[in-house]
Amino acid sequence: MVKVNLGGCSSFIKDAEYDTSVEKALQSLDVLEAETGAGNDFLGWKHLPSETPESLIQECEAIRDSWKGKGVDLVVVIGIGGSYLGAKCAIEALSHPFAHFMGKTEAPQVVFAGHNLSEEYISELMDFMKVRNVATVIISKSGTTTEPAIAFRLIKQYLEETYGAKEAAERIVAVTDAHRGALKSLSTQEGYKTFVIPDNVGGRFSVLTPVGILPIVLAGFDIRAMLEGAKEMEQACAVRSAENPAVKYAAMRNLLYQGGKKIEILVNFAPKLQYLGEWWKQLYGESEGKDGKGIFPASVNFTTDLHSMGQYIQDGERHLMETVVTVENSNRSMTIANDPQNLDGLNFLTGKHVEECNAMAELGTKLAHIDGGVPQLQVVIERINEFNLGGLFYFFEKACGISAYMLGVNPFNQPGVEAYKKNMFALLGKPGYEEQARAIQDRLSK
Ligand code: PA5
Repeated sequence: MVKVNLGGCSSFIKDAEYDTSVEKALQSLDVLEAETGAGNDFLGWKHLPSETPESLIQECEAIRDSWKGKGVDLVVVIGIGGSYLGAKCAIEALSHPFAHFMGKTEAPQVVFAGHNLSEEYISELMDFMKVRNVATVIISKSGTTTEPAIAFRLIKQYLEETYGAKEAAERIVAVTDAHRGALKSLSTQEGYKTFVIPDNVGGRFSVLTPVGILPIVLAGFDIRAMLEGAKEMEQACAVRSAENPAVKYAAMRNLLYQGGKKIEILVNFAPKLQYLGEWWKQLYGESEGKDGKGIFPASVNFTTDLHSMGQYIQDGERHLMETVVTVENSNRSMTIANDPQNLDGLNFLTGKHVEECNAMAELGTKLAHIDGGVPQLQVVIERINEFNLGGLFYFFEKACGISAYMLGVNPFNQPGVEAYKKNMFALLGKPGYEEQARAIQDRLSK
């Protein structure tokens, strides 16, 4: 269960203001539940946890087993934005970070491509592919996004040259729209196994569709437990109550935003949650940042970033709020031993768990940042596992929908993303962009 603790905000707000904000959040919840708000044709994510068929998981497991039979030890997942960040977040959170340096693992290593346009990145990834037994998953809802399309063209060519066209086709799976897009037609023509991203689920809300489910299954994790955790939050976040965790979170962050806290920093004290911050930034940034409005989402990894961003957060411009993702229990246990010489002066920690030091750093930071004028919201999970990650995914999605409606924006579109694409296409000479190319050349020549 994901819990929300707002105690770290109490000195920044008045109770009556919070109650009013909760009322607004409940009205936004009503709109989300009645499906009458802006973008209401993109609400398919709301019931994914309870409606995902077992057959979909089994289809993903069949791919996993067939690739295992071929000895595949490297899966390259190609995608960008919502077609990559959820899977990346889950796999980073659940993996032993050193497993693949330690030798062969039961599940293949999953790495990502198509989330940048760096020639060095793709070249070095292909160096790695040459010493591994490779399969790939290409994920793109539109089927036309440039970054993954370029990576896929290169990786497809490599697979065909290395394994032959027929075998390559068995090592490629596409996750895309049911009908539209270049990837859909290419997959049909080449005979790739395909999974469908439902029409009514947008990219950044798609982690619990095959976009996330397939890579997570391929990486060897328990997707059923993740869906169970999400299901628990699907129920908890549907209740029309001031105790609904999504309502609490949305109400407080919007109240703080109205009071001038324009930036929200998602904080973790567990390095495995670094990509939760990346996934969350995309979810909130693309959903809320429009029409001249929106909380700017940032993220930090503590205690690491206490030695870089800590100064600004403590002492810089006072436009910040923090949301800390607290993990109550570690999955591992290690205590600090006594050292008779005590040259490092650390014997006061003898017998303490490393995680106790982390917890005290977290509490000390909370008190210091509140004293420094940074309100703190807290999102709590018991430990990092599939169940709780599923809960976090759903909780943040539901709270995002509520928050964006409170702000008065459509959470489910992203018109601003098109601007750079149009310029890039014009600059690269894509057919149909000739006029824009001329306008850019004029502009650049001045
Ligand atoms: O949330 C979104 O819709 C976007 O971030 C998309 O996920 C991203 O642009 C990738 O799009 P596509 O899956 O169509 O390649």
